[in-house]
Amino acid sequence: MEKLVIVSNRVLLPRERSARAGGLAVGVGYILRRHGGLWFGWSGDIAEETSTTPRITRAGETTFAAVDLGRLDYQEYYSGFANGTLWPLFHYRLGMLEYSRQEFDGYRRVNAIFARALASLVGSADLIWVHDYHLIPFGAELRQLGLKNRIGFFFHTPFPAASVLELLPQHEVLIDALGSYDLVGFQTEQDLQAFQDYIVTKAGGSILPGGVIAARGRTFRAGVFAIGIDTQKFARMAEAAAYSPETVRLKQSLTGRRLIIGVDRLDVSKGLPNRFEAYERLLRNWPEHRARVTLLQVAPRSRTEVASYRELGRQLEQAAGRINGTYAEFDWAPIRYLNRTLSQKTLAGFYRLSRVGLVTPLRDGMNLVAKEYVAAQDAADPGVLVLSRFAGAARELDGALIVNPFDIDQLAEAIHQALLMPLEERQTRWASMMSVLRRNTVSTWCDGFIRSLRNMSPQELQTKSPDMNRQQSRRSIVLPAVM
Ligand code: G6P
Repeated sequence: MEKLVIVSNRVLLPRERSARAGGLAVGVGYILRRHGGLWFGWSGDIAEETSTTPRITRAGETTFAAVDLGRLDYQEYYSGFANGTLWPLFHYRLGMLEYSRQEFDGYRRVNAIFARALASLVGSADLIWVHDYHLIPFGAELRQLGLKNRIGFFFHTPFPAASVLELLPQHEVLIDALGSYDLVGFQTEQDLQAFQDYIVTKAGGSILPGGVIAARGRTFRAGVFAIGIDTQKFARMAEAAAYSPETVRLKQSLTGRRLIIGVDRLDVSKGLPNRFEAYERLLRNWPEHRARVTLLQVAPRSRTEVASYRELGRQLEQAAGRINGTYAEFDWAPIRYLNRTLSQKTLAGFYRLSRVGLVTPLRDGMNLVAKEYVAAQDAADPGVLVLSRFAGAARELDGALIVNPFDIDQLAEAIHQALLMPLEERQTRWASMMSVLRRNTVSTWCDGFIRSLRNMSPQELQTKSPDMNRQQSRRSIVLPAVM
């Protein structure tokens, strides 16, 4: 019988699921709760060598197959090429872009090892869905092993403009690898257009009707599947969490002050220094807000082995210290800055309590915090979302105050405007966003992708056979052998 096989860099084992997870983990968690199946990827543990046989755990209808990463593979594949090269490139943080050929080889080596570790667990009728930038060559590796399954790939990140992508020395190799998938999904139209533009202008390919891409002897489908949240469930959770001990404690500690909230991984794409600066400017330019608002910034540390992330951590500690040092009173601190993970339930209550939600990344694939913030609000007294135009979510949530996070003055003005916004306007904006979130949910995303992959015609699938791979490699189009 057909099963669903989900592949992502990191597998969240059942014991870790209660912690607040990023968009990918929320989405994949939902897919597996709904469909059951197999989730394959890295255990999160580091060993001497990358394991070739996954550790199997079962929970309900889901089987978890996790491998440890060897120390060198962790450095080259995860910290190096995936997070030191691809992540800044895809998020336009070009000053942080680092590249080494050795790390690229490590990236491909791990993709090959992972593919071999998974292959024996896959049945011939299984549907395979691979997630995110760590695993772009994974499908090509599975094809090399002879797998003829339907294989889809989804980018949770933005997809950069062709002129940015080509800064990467091996951009052709990666894009050619995408041709081994049957379906490639993007978060927004803009991402899809950037990809199509690359195909036409850099790869000499063409875009056929129905979103079919034909490039260098391959055809596959590319489409937009915007990830969403379980809107109803999150709204119910926030309603219940409004009276949780944590929310009550937070509310008491505010002593009537308005709460502004930000929740982000401590990541170079999230625009946190700009946000802190804008908050500082708010306090400077509008003294009436001093001692009347509190910013709660939750920012769990992430990828601390990458130098730019450590530097960002230091920068934010300094900024928070400076702002508190300048504006704090003996009974009020402007910023509460937490490098901790809070549970989804706790956050849901905090979102509902806050008057303003700040989601101001410099670039983001979607950003589910924006959607969760909206879903958590009380219809009778909703908060205001201040949202970066560079988050995928801005394409859907036009009731937010949309800002360019590079413009600190605009960001400060938007926070000011949000704090003053009358109830009626808050309600109108919230209702329009909420109706979008009720329509586009995590289930629309997941069912839409799986349906598209399952319904592909045999003609569309025919160019994916291993023979095709061999034929292509003679023309040196697929990945050269991994060292
Ligand atoms: C982003 C990426 C995901 C990744 C998550 C957590 O959301 O798009 O692929 O799972 O960050 O990153 P980490 O490096 O901690 O696994």
